Amino acid sequence: MTTVVAVCGSRRDGSYTRAALRYALDAAAEAGADTDFIDLGAVDLPLYHPDIDEQGDSPELMRRMREADGVVVGSPVYHGSYSSTFKNFHDYCSFDEYENTVAGLLAVAGGGSYGSTLDHMRITIRGVHGLVVPHQVGIRSAYEKFEEIPSTDRNGDGVEYEFVDEPLRERTEKLGRKVAEHAALLRGKEAAVEADD
Ligand SMILES: Cc1cc2nc3c(=O)[nH]c(=O)nc-3n(C[C@H](O)[C@H](O)[C@H](O)COP(=O)(O)O)c2cc1C
Repeated sequence: MTTVVAVCGSRRDGSYTRAALRYALDAAAEAGADTDFIDLGAVDLPLYHPDIDEQGDSPELMRRMREADGVVVGSPVYHGSYSSTFKNFHDYCSFDEYENTVAGLLAVAGGGSYGSTLDHMRITIRGVHGLVVPHQVGIRSAYEKFEEIPSTDRNGDGVEYEFVDEPLRERTEKLGRKVAEHAALLRGKEAAVEADD
């Protein structure tokens, strides 16, 4: 079975990044993947220290990353780049976590620009050898793209949104689907190579 994990780089209650990632993850599940959600707003992850390998929840979080065949990474746009929350998590990750792992990118802006955030995420995931799919999602003016709905508290923050922008919903679901499909393909090819050896 293919596993896809989403990583939310916003700690904000009522995060639009968290909401969008849920759509991507649901689409990955519909495409046949097992899913997992790492909400960086709900973990204990001290500032990365290069002299200390394991801190807080990092051993458990890295285990979940290594088990995943695909990762959908979402970050809010902070000062034209990704959030420190995303980067702190990413600094714990290495080749081991991204080995043969397909990655998909999502960036959420309060204003109008998300391109540099997606580019920076693509570059830094390349730095740990993640295989980033070409399809990516940028959401601008996020507050206009979602509507609050009665919460089932699946996000743990008492807030739940649904997309009111259909093309964006479809684009976000496509991201989850693409990551699941590419991850399954890669897993199949790995299995074939191993069988050949
Ligand atoms: C420190 C900080 C920096 C930000 N910088 C930008 C920015 O450069 N461009 C922009 O469009 N929005 C910026 N924003 C707004 C966020 O992108 C926006 O609030 C977004 O919805 C946050 O994602 P979230 O809802 O998942 O927390 C910034 C917000 C914060 C807190």
